[in-house]
Amino acid sequence: MGFKEQIDKNRLPEHIAIIMDGNGRWAKNQGKFRSFGHESGVLSVKDIVEGCAEIGIKYLTIYAFSTDNWNRPVEEVNALMELFIATINNETDTLNANNIRLNAIGDIASLPQQCIEDLKSAMDKTANNTTCTLTLALSYSAKWEILDAAKKLAKQVQDQQLTIDEITEVKFSSQLTTVDMPDPELMIRTSGEHRISNFLLWQMAYTELYFTEKLWPDFRREDLFEAIVDYQKRERRFGKISEQLN
Ligand code: FPP
Repeated sequence: MGFKEQIDKNRLPEHIAIIMDGNGRWAKNQGKFRSFGHESGVLSVKDIVEGCAEIGIKYLTIYAFSTDNWNRPVEEVNALMELFIATINNETDTLNANNIRLNAIGDIASLPQQCIEDLKSAMDKTANNTTCTLTLALSYSAKWEILDAAKKLAKQVQDQQLTIDEITEVKFSSQLTTVDMPDPELMIRTSGEHRISNFLLWQMAYTELYFTEKLWPDFRREDLFEAIVDYQKRERRFGKISEQLN
């Protein structure tokens, strides 16, 4: 039996977050440039997005470019930005055909103007789609996001629109870039690295973490289904004991 058949459709994670890692090593293993790894990684993105839509995952958030990725060699940064622009433009029709809404989180204003415009246009064109929300984390870091939320709340207190006692978990969450999404129940990271790398730190307080040795360009929907089967075997206690759960 394949992994897809083993998935319990009644206990699907609503939101899956993915750290796509290993593009560079995958390319290097084949004696190719790192950018070839990123280009090949787009095929994995496409397959995983379609896999999510196929089984009914409502939210998929992928870490496409971190704040720290700006420190990579300028040629690689430029190649990635061009790849984002090309992929967003090439895939908008497919997103619409699959009823998938495109969304973006991060310091979007720091991206090249062309990327901002094409991203906004694709988000507008897919805004009414309802099967799945695909969120690209671009120029994103969780510390940036949390600091930004803290500053917005501080400003509201300063302007006397808010009291300190009104700053609850719910209020804080409402200032984050993920405001309309549930927290991810499952986070997948490829390439054998066991780190969170500044991704969705607030939102992943109770997320189940799944690490695989596969490099991102080798990761396909069957691997996603395997991760979901693994997730469904886990007991999520949220600080309680086993006997309290039923
Ligand atoms: C990490 O691998 C991957 C990235 C920083 C970029 C991922 C981007 C894509 C796959 C393009 C997706 C496009 C869209 C529009 C979503 P790495 O370079 O850190 O690999 P390494 O650790 O082996 O060096």
